[in-house]
Amino acid sequence: MAFGAPGGIRGRGGGRGGDRGASRGGRGAPRGGRGGARGGSNVILEPHRHPGVFIAKGKESLLVTKNIVPGESVYGEKRISIEGGVEGTKVEYRVWNPFRSKLAAGVLGGLDDIFIAPGKKVLYLGAASGTSVSHVADIVGPEGIVYAVEFSLRSGRDLINMAKKRTNVIPIVEDARLPIKYRMLLSQVDVIFADVAQPDQARIVSLNAEYFLKDGGHVVISIKASCIDSTAPPDVVFAREVEFLQNQRFKALEQVPLEPYERDHAMVSAVYQRHKAKKNT
Ligand SMILES: C[S@@+](CC[C@H](N)C(=O)[O-])C[C@H]1O[C@@H](n2cnc3c(N)ncnc32)[C@H](O)[C@@H]1O
Repeated sequence: MAFGAPGGIRGRGGGRGGDRGASRGGRGAPRGGRGGARGGSNVILEPHRHPGVFIAKGKESLLVTKNIVPGESVYGEKRISIEGGVEGTKVEYRVWNPFRSKLAAGVLGGLDDIFIAPGKKVLYLGAASGTSVSHVADIVGPEGIVYAVEFSLRSGRDLINMAKKRTNVIPIVEDARLPIKYRMLLSQVDVIFADVAQPDQARIVSLNAEYFLKDGGHVVISIKASCIDSTAPPDVVFAREVEFLQNQRFKALEQVPLEPYERDHAMVSAVYQRHKAKKNT
């Protein structure tokens, strides 16, 4: 089965909590006890075309990131140990489930570039409890940094706990509509990833870009059509959002649907042209 095909990563559903889907230990899941799945000779690790992302090929192909805190899962996801380059050493990877992370769904959906790569500075809007953020932290690695913004206090608590060990994550429990409140915590970033699921998400992204995004930097945005306009067809909603961005100093680059992982969602990427004139919207 080709990697990234709808069935490439198995299983929606599963019980509450724990890791839904890819790593439930069902058919195709890597074997191993206590959340740590042994790579052994059965699993081959290959780099994905996106730097910092990998594919663990066993009975099935699983998207994985290199665990920046070996020995620890964040949300019950499986871990896979693979023999390192030096005999007797192991490197640990965490299974990245596209049913739990829209960025993973975008990768499997075929985005040409996610712009999030080792060493990058990322502003992540809509961090929730840090499930996806933890994989972004793995991807950017120790040389990179993830500023993770979440306004729910409850999710923010989990996010802060996750960041205690993942020291390349700076948790920011604030409203992303008010970047002035956290401007002192950030330097310029290379990429803004947004998944706030709000009707004014494009405006929130544009505002944060004005504060923090470097000229020529990128945005990657998950758009949930029903959050913006539940009466219009999703394609119309996506086109309107892209048009809004185009009027706000962005040049749209790509758009991919997130099916089968998320219904009526698209992921859009764009490049920021700081000196381009804004159009009134
Ligand atoms: C769809 S969830 C994000 C899921 C997360 N990206 C993941 O993949 O694990 C949207 C999150 O955005 C947060 N959010 C919504 N509006 C926000 C705002 N104005 N500022 C900060 N966070 C916001 C919500 O509290 C929620 O946790």
